Amino acid sequence: MENAKTVKQSQVETRDIVHPSDVNAYNFVFGGHMMSLLDKAACIAAYTHARRRVTTISIDNVRFFKPATVGTILTIKASVNRVFNTSLEVGLKVVGVHPQISWQPEVICHAYMTFVALDENGKPTPIPSIIPETEDEIRRFEEAGIRRDARKKLTAQLEAK
Ligand SMILES: CC(C)(COP(=O)(O)OP(=O)(O)OC[C@H]1O[C@@H](n2cnc3c(N)ncnc32)[C@H](O)[C@@H]1OP(=O)(O)O)[C@@H](O)C(=O)NCCC(=O)NCCS
Repeated sequence: MENAKTVKQSQVETRDIVHPSDVNAYNFVFGGHMMSLLDKAACIAAYTHARRRVTTISIDNVRFFKPATVGTILTIKASVNRVFNTSLEVGLKVVGVHPQISWQPEVICHAYMTFVALDENGKPTPIPSIIPETEDEIRRFEEAGIRRDARKKLTAQLEAK
């Protein structure tokens, strides 16, 4: 197993601009378009941390706070929140500015994606651990554990029915 890495070593920030083909009839960006941008940024962060093939296993708590309309410049931030064993959680935040209205950034969306690292045979394989350094990184690390525990509890409850 390779050495642990810091959160900063794999943090990703990508940019995009909303085009007319990315929105619905009400000029709100398609959720699926946003998910594609999120998945790409999250995958780069997960891949950079794990340094091996990763695949998305789940997407949780996607929340759209504000609509992004044509011309909105999107900044997508992806950061590995926590490594478990063969999986890791990436936290995502999208901030948007609409230059024709205001350069004031607004939070557009949050999401959490879990990736599993795969070995040469396509089987889950352990991932190097992560070192949260800042107050925010430590908070996100702890919150990722709470989300995982809640998911496992919900799965157990549903399976018991
Ligand atoms: C990823 C895959 C190989 C995992 O195999 P699996 O046998 O189902 O998974 P396992 O039970 O061995 O669990 C693997 C890891 O996923 C985690 N996991 C399982 N279900 C999960 C869920 N719903 N959410 C988050 N993590 C989950 C497990 O906790 C484990 O992580 P850990 O070792 O850190 O505890 C398999 O599910 C798969 O191929 N899925 C399709 C992937 C795909 O096509 N993605 C979309 C395109 S990238």
